[in-house]
Amino acid sequence: MARSIGFIAVMVALLGGFATPTRAQVTLSISCSSLGIELELCQEGANEWGKQTGNSVKLVATPPNAEERLALYQQLLAAGSADIDVFQIDVVWPGTLASHFLDLTPYIPPEDLKDHFETLTTNDTVEGKLVAVPFFVDAGLLFYRQDLLDKYGKKPPRDWSELTETAKAIIDGERAGNAQLQGYVWQGRAYEGLTCNSIEWVASFGGGTIVETDGKISINNARAAAALTLARSWIGTISPEGVLNYAEEDSRGVFQSGNAVFMRNWPYAWALANAPDSPVKGKVGIAVLPQGAGDGARHASALGGQHLAVSKYSAHPKEAADLVRYLTSAGEQKRRAMKGSFNPTRKSLYDDQELLQALPFLKDFEAVLENAVARPSTVTGAKYSRASSEYVRAVHNTLTGKGTAEENLAGLEKQLERISRGGKW
Ligand code: GLC
Repeated sequence: MARSIGFIAVMVALLGGFATPTRAQVTLSISCSSLGIELELCQEGANEWGKQTGNSVKLVATPPNAEERLALYQQLLAAGSADIDVFQIDVVWPGTLASHFLDLTPYIPPEDLKDHFETLTTNDTVEGKLVAVPFFVDAGLLFYRQDLLDKYGKKPPRDWSELTETAKAIIDGERAGNAQLQGYVWQGRAYEGLTCNSIEWVASFGGGTIVETDGKISINNARAAAALTLARSWIGTISPEGVLNYAEEDSRGVFQSGNAVFMRNWPYAWALANAPDSPVKGKVGIAVLPQGAGDGARHASALGGQHLAVSKYSAHPKEAADLVRYLTSAGEQKRRAMKGSFNPTRKSLYDDQELLQALPFLKDFEAVLENAVARPSTVTGAKYSRASSEYVRAVHNTLTGKGTAEENLAGLEKQLERISRGGKW
């Protein structure tokens, strides 16, 4: 008996060896972000790949804040460090980091690539090189407390003024019982998350995307100023002063503990708001973000998301690229969507019945994506993060009352003209 088990074990090992000729027993390291349960999902996926290939993967946790993560990556990559093989990168970073990444074209089957939304693969192609593969896609969404809206006979707001009125009416009615209740929480800290929130306000008023695809700096306009002035009016009324220091997890903390009527966040917050231990489980609705006002009014969601890239300093590029192939596969993207509501980047999964049942907003997500507003990272290339920081400074100053929207946008236009040498980027 013991003998035959030994024989089977040898056969399994041999067959396994044939099935995966690259079985090289390497140890890779991957950096994942840690928003919500991202880290846990990343670890599980990497472990499964390790099990299937006989390799192992070390996880390097990185800060949830996009800028801090970018600074860390830039430091490592500039030093040519081989410490991290696979990088989880933000959708807005390919232009900044491309020179440090491998061209993944030879490693990803063409039919796999075709399944991803084209906007995303185009975003990841820099000078003809595929520098990253889409991992999940984000778009800003409005989360609301269905139970509170029902209690006050309100509907999910179509525009920002409706959101403001509904939030006011509900907090006025509820504050006697819950003094903590806020109307609207979002991401107002001076970081990349504020770029996303405020590009949504600006675009929802028809005020453009800061820099247009032809490089033209468009942000100094009356619609953009009206959008920022509106957001300023929320501070201390429907949004707490503290929102000026909130990132994603801060707003989720307030909303999920039952202390906000509305929240702007990414899809990941859905799975957590409905987790068994969530105080608001089953009480949450989700909608497109409200429209602005005036001629240019429209719905606008910022396009976000994360992609996977392989460092060109990696000692194991083949295995690292295979890990990227696995983590971006349909099976893994489905698992991440079911467990963590991280939205797939593969079109085929938007027809998956099981997934459509589990995530009620998925069926409308393609429409949300069509309305999605991309930050100007492709046209500004390596200068994106400087441009975004200047923009954030102007928006944050407006929100804290340091100058009016008009003054801050005029100053911003000058800064962007300077950075881009007159819009040439
Ligand atoms: C999310 C998005 C990313 C965005 C960031 C801002 O991680 O996926 O694209 O830059 O939030 O905080």
